[in-house]
Amino acid sequence: MSPIKIASTQHPVIDLIKNRWSPRSFSTQTISQESLQTILEAGSWAPSANNQQPWRFIYGYRGTPGFDKIVAALAPGNQPWAKNAAVLVAAVGVKELPDTQQKNHYYMYDTGLATSFILLQAQSMGIYAHVMGGFNKQHLAEEAAIPSNEEPVVVIALGYADDAEKLEEPYKTRELTPRNRKPLDVISAELV
Ligand SMILES: Cc1cc2nc3c(=O)[nH]c(=O)nc-3n(C[C@H](O)[C@H](O)[C@H](O)COP(=O)(O)O)c2cc1C
Repeated sequence: MSPIKIASTQHPVIDLIKNRWSPRSFSTQTISQESLQTILEAGSWAPSANNQQPWRFIYGYRGTPGFDKIVAALAPGNQPWAKNAAVLVAAVGVKELPDTQQKNHYYMYDTGLATSFILLQAQSMGIYAHVMGGFNKQHLAEEAAIPSNEEPVVVIALGYADDAEKLEEPYKTRELTPRNRKPLDVISAELV
C-alpha cells in the first residue's frame, strides 16, 4: 500500500488514525462473516445521546442481490469503484425516539459516531472503508424497505485495498494524492 496516504501530523496522533484513509481501489478478497460482525459490533459501542443507539446497519456482500440494490442507489461518480467493494453497508439513522415518537435531534450525530467506530475497527483489521454520501436516499429506502421514521445517512464501502493503477481516471489520481487537513490553529482555539 502506498505510504502517500499516511497522515503527516503536527502531533503524535495514534497510527490507527494516521493510517486510515478512503480508498477507491478494492481487491477481490472478501471479508469473512466474523470480521464483518466484529466491525459492525464496534459501531454499536459508540456513545449516543441517552444511549438510544439510533442506528441500523444494512449490508450486502458483493455478488448478492442486496449488494446490487445498494450499488443501484449510488451516485454515478461512486458506482464505478464502489461496485468492487467486498461489502457495502448502509448506515441508517432512526429519526424518532421510540417512546414518544418525538424527533431525536442527535440521530445524525450518533450515526456518524457509530460510523467512525466502524471505520477505525475496520482499519485495525487491515480492512479499508470509504464513506459515501453520494447516493439516492429515496431509492435506497425503497430498495431496502427502510421505513419513513428512518433515514439512510451514508453508505460505507468496505474491503481490502488494492493498487491505484487498477483505477480509471479521475479516481487513480485521487488515489495517489496526499491527504491534507486544515491546520490545528484554524480548527481550534483556547477560549479566554
Ligand atoms: C458524510 C461523508 C460523505 C462522503 N461522500 C463521499 C462520496 O459520495 N464519494 C466519495 O468518493 N467520497 C465521499 N466521502 C469521503 C470523503 O471525500 C473523504 O473522507 C475525505 O476526502 C477525506 O479523505 P480521507 O478519508 O482519505 O482522509 C464522504 C465522506 C463523508 C464523511
